[in-house]
Amino acid sequence: MIDKIKEHITDVKAFNATTKEEIENFRIKYLGKKGILNGFFAEFKNVPNEQKKDFGQTVNELKTAAQEKVDELKERLDSLEEEKGVYGDLSRPSEPLEIGSRHPISIVKNQIIEIFSNIGFNVSEGSEIEDDWHNFTALNLPEYHPARDMQDTFFIQTDPDILLRTHTSSVQVRYMEDNKPPIRTISPGRVFRNEAISARSHCIFHQVEGLYIDKNVSFADLKQTLLYFTKQLFGKSKIRLRPSYFPFTEPSAELDIYWGLETETDYRITKGTGWLEILGCGMVDPNVLKNCNIDPKEYSGFAFGMGIERIAMLLYQIGDIRMFYENDVRFLEQFKSSI
Ligand code: DAH
Repeated sequence: MIDKIKEHITDVKAFNATTKEEIENFRIKYLGKKGILNGFFAEFKNVPNEQKKDFGQTVNELKTAAQEKVDELKERLDSLEEEKGVYGDLSRPSEPLEIGSRHPISIVKNQIIEIFSNIGFNVSEGSEIEDDWHNFTALNLPEYHPARDMQDTFFIQTDPDILLRTHTSSVQVRYMEDNKPPIRTISPGRVFRNEAISARSHCIFHQVEGLYIDKNVSFADLKQTLLYFTKQLFGKSKIRLRPSYFPFTEPSAELDIYWGLETETDYRITKGTGWLEILGCGMVDPNVLKNCNIDPKEYSGFAFGMGIERIAMLLYQIGDIRMFYENDVRFLEQFKSSI
């Protein structure tokens, strides 16, 4: 009989089950009222006295093994179910991904880059922390030049030589120092000016600078390049170049595009003239070329600079520049469909 119990112990230890029913059947078979164990316990009184001890111990061993097996299988099943509850059906298709959107400043920047890359301009970048030479002096803006007042500057700590660049024209200088003509480059980037924040201006904004240096570059090349650009970006083909002044270009001009006077908004944004100012430009001043080790007798070129926020505000009819920096999801989400 003891051998029979031992066989049961081996069976119990080897037993496995994957469902609740199987475990329950196993429990009833061994530990139930009419189960195998109670059968052995009932036999106890018939066991010869000298075997009682052995018998009792072996039956108890079987009972413990059966109980432990039931507990172990239940626990394993519970944790499997828990996992299923957490992860659900792992073969189910996943939730659709929330697609983010590009920031309008990035969208417009990328459009400008694409338009100019199509006519052979590359993209260059400079650092946001600049020295006086690259931001001002090399651009024909020596110390005490009154035009410095046009760009209220953030200086770094107490060193008047180190500042946050006030325009991306500083990249012109760096590019000319590091590269030989012919040069065709545009430089997008962030610029900083110590200005009061309002609906129209901010102390941090973005510009794109353009620079074209080669032999025999003329003002006509500048005009054609900008006409191509405005056609591509705004779909408008009427432009005018108004005489202006920048220390780094001679002659200098501002480019206006004819926006039209079809709607009330057109009247408002063009102040009733139909014309909108888009950018500053001109022929690179010979002094600037010299400062960058380019011989002005051999080379000439043009440059231009524009504000990305201003253009984005026009294209998307955004009335307040501060919207760009607040990261309000309700604003940003509206650009979801744009590439
Ligand atoms: N740097 C000027 C500004 O920040 C913009 C500008 C005007 C850039 C004329 C140029 C230029 O390259 O030729 O207002």
